[in-house]
Amino acid sequence: MNKLFFIKNFFLPTAIFSLVVNLLMLAPMIYSFQLFGRVISTKSFEAFWLLSLLLLIALLVMGALESVKASILVSANNAIDAMISPDLLRKMIEGASSAEQNPYHHALMDLRAVRTFLTGHGMIQLMEAFWLPVYMLIIYLMHPYMLYALIFGSIVMWGATVATGYLTSASLAEANSASRDTARFVDSAILNSEAVNAMGMLPSLIHKWSLMNDRVMVLQTQASKRAGNISGVTKFLQSLVGALSMGVFAYISLQEKTMMNPGLMMAGFIILSKATAPIMYITSSWQSIVDTRTSYIRLDKFFKEVSREPPVLMELPPPTGQIALEHVTFGIRASNKVILKDVSFSLAAGETLGIVGPSASGKSSLARLLVGVWKQQQGVIRMDGADISNWPSEMLGRYVGYLPQNIELFAGTIAENIARLDEPDSELVINAANMAGLHELILQMPNGYDTQIGEGGDFLSGGQRQRIGLARALYGSPRLLVLDEPNASLDTAGETALINALIKVKMLGVTTVLITHNPKYLSQVEKLLILQNGSVAAFGPKEWVLAQAQQAKSQQDQVAA
Ligand SMILES: Nc1ncnc2c1ncn2[C@@H]1O[C@H](COP(=O)(O)OP(=O)(O)OP(=O)(O)O)[C@@H](O)[C@H]1O
Ligand SMILES: [Mg+2]
Repeated sequence: MNKLFFIKNFFLPTAIFSLVVNLLMLAPMIYSFQLFGRVISTKSFEAFWLLSLLLLIALLVMGALESVKASILVSANNAIDAMISPDLLRKMIEGASSAEQNPYHHALMDLRAVRTFLTGHGMIQLMEAFWLPVYMLIIYLMHPYMLYALIFGSIVMWGATVATGYLTSASLAEANSASRDTARFVDSAILNSEAVNAMGMLPSLIHKWSLMNDRVMVLQTQASKRAGNISGVTKFLQSLVGALSMGVFAYISLQEKTMMNPGLMMAGFIILSKATAPIMYITSSWQSIVDTRTSYIRLDKFFKEVSREPPVLMELPPPTGQIALEHVTFGIRASNKVILKDVSFSLAAGETLGIVGPSASGKSSLARLLVGVWKQQQGVIRMDGADISNWPSEMLGRYVGYLPQNIELFAGTIAENIARLDEPDSELVINAANMAGLHELILQMPNGYDTQIGEGGDFLSGGQRQRIGLARALYGSPRLLVLDEPNASLDTAGETALINALIKVKMLGVTTVLITHNPKYLSQVEKLLILQNGSVAAFGPKEWVLAQAQQAKSQQDQVAA
C-alpha cells in the first residue's frame, strides 16, 4: 500500500477539513454563549440578528465542507480498491494452487475491512478524537468538575466495553467457529448431492447436520445470554453517565450558590456531547477497531512479501521447448511428506515422454512442477536452460499447455474457455478445436462456439469437458504440452481425436509429456519414465525402458517360482 500517496492525497485534506469543520462546530456554542450572556442582558435586536446570520453562514460552510470531506473519502475508497484489489486477487489465486496452506486466503476480506474503516465512519471518528484534548481544555476552563465527570464517565464506559469483550469473546468465537463448520458441511453436501441422493445418504446426512447444528444452538444461546446480561449493565451505566453531566451542573450551581450562566451551561452541554461522541464510538467499536488493526497488519505483511518478489525479468526469446529436471525434490510441509525424490531427466525440444506409475506415485505432482504451479524445495527445472521459476507466470503460460487431471472450466462460452479467458481470436480458437478434433462437435451445439457451458462446465458431459480442456491446452502455440490422464473420460471417438492431436503436436515439434495408464497412448511416445514412490524407477527410450521392466519382471517371477 503506498501509504504516502494516500496520506498526501486523501487523509491530509480530510484531516484539514475536519479541523475547519470542528472549529465551525463551535459556532453554536459561541452563539448560545453570546446570546444568553450578552444579547439578552443588553436587549439588542441588532446584535441578535447579526449573530444569527453569522451562525447561519458558519453552519452552511460547515455543511459544505462536510460533504466535500465525504466525497474525498469516497474517492480514497475507490483508489484503494483500484490500486490493491487486482494485486490481491492475483496473489490469492497464485497461493490457492500452492500445495501448502494459503496464507492470503482472507486478503480480500481484510482489504474490505481496512478500506471500510479508513474511508468510513471509523476514520472520521478517530480524527475527531484528536480534538479531544482541546475539548477537554475548554471543559476544564469552564469548570474542573465537568472535566472530572467526563473522565470518570469515559473510564466507566471503557471498562464496561472491555469487560463485555472479555466475557463474551470466547463463547462467541466458539459459536461462530461451530457455525462455520456447519455451513461448510452443508456446502459439501450440496456439492455431493448426486451421490447423496443416489445412495440414500440423506437421513445420515441430516442426522450429522442436526448434531452439528444442536451444538451451534447451544453455544449461541450461551453467548447471547451472557451478552444480554452484560448489555443490561452497560445500558444502566450509559444512562447513568449521561445523567451525570446534568448532576454536575446542578451540583456546581448548588455549591456556588448561584445559578450557572445558562449560556455557559448550554455551551457546556454542546461541548460535552462533542467530546463524548468519539469516546463513545471508540468504546463501543473497540472490538472492530482491534479487528481492523489485525487485518491491517496482515495486509501490510502481505504487501511487504509481494514487494520482496523478484522484479519482472527481461522477456526471454520464445523457448524451443527443451526441458531439464535436475535433482528435483518436492514435499508438502504441512503433512511432512516427501512426494518426489531427486527426480532428474531431460527432453530435447519436440520429444514426447510418457509417464507411468502406480496411483499416488507422484505423477500429477510432477506435472504441476513441470508447468510451474508448484515449486520444488530442491533442484531446478529448466526450459531452454532458464530456471522456470524465474519466468513470470504469464510469460511462461503462453508457451505451456496443461490439461490437469481434474479439469475445471469457467462459466462462459466454449470459445472463451478455449481461448484461456482471453478475448477469443477465432482463428486460434478454431485451430485449437481442430487439433483436438472438436470443431464439428462444437458446431453441432446450440450456439456453436458461443454456447454457454455453465458453472464449471456443468452443461457438458465429462468427455466434452475433457476435450475442451485439451483444446484449451493446445490454444496458441505451446512449446510444452503436459497432459495428465487426458483419456480418463473419452469414448473411442475421443481417443482417436486425442491420438491424432498427439501426432499433430509431434509434427509441430511441441515437447509433450503424457501421463497415462493406457498402453494405447504409449505408441505415440518416444521416451518413457516410470515413477515409483516419488522416485524415477526407469527413464529412457521407450523400447529400452519396457525391455528393462520386462527383464526385471521375469527375474522376479523366477525368484518367486
Ligand atoms: N495438495 C496435496 N496435499 C497433500 N498431499 C498431496 C496433495 N496432492 C497430492 N498429495 C499426495 O501426493 C502423493 C502423490 O499424489 P499424485 O496426485 O501426484 O499421484 P498420482 O501419481 O498422480 O496418482 P493418480 O494416478 O491416482 O493420479 C499422494 O500420496 C497424495 O496423497
Ligand atoms: Mg494423478
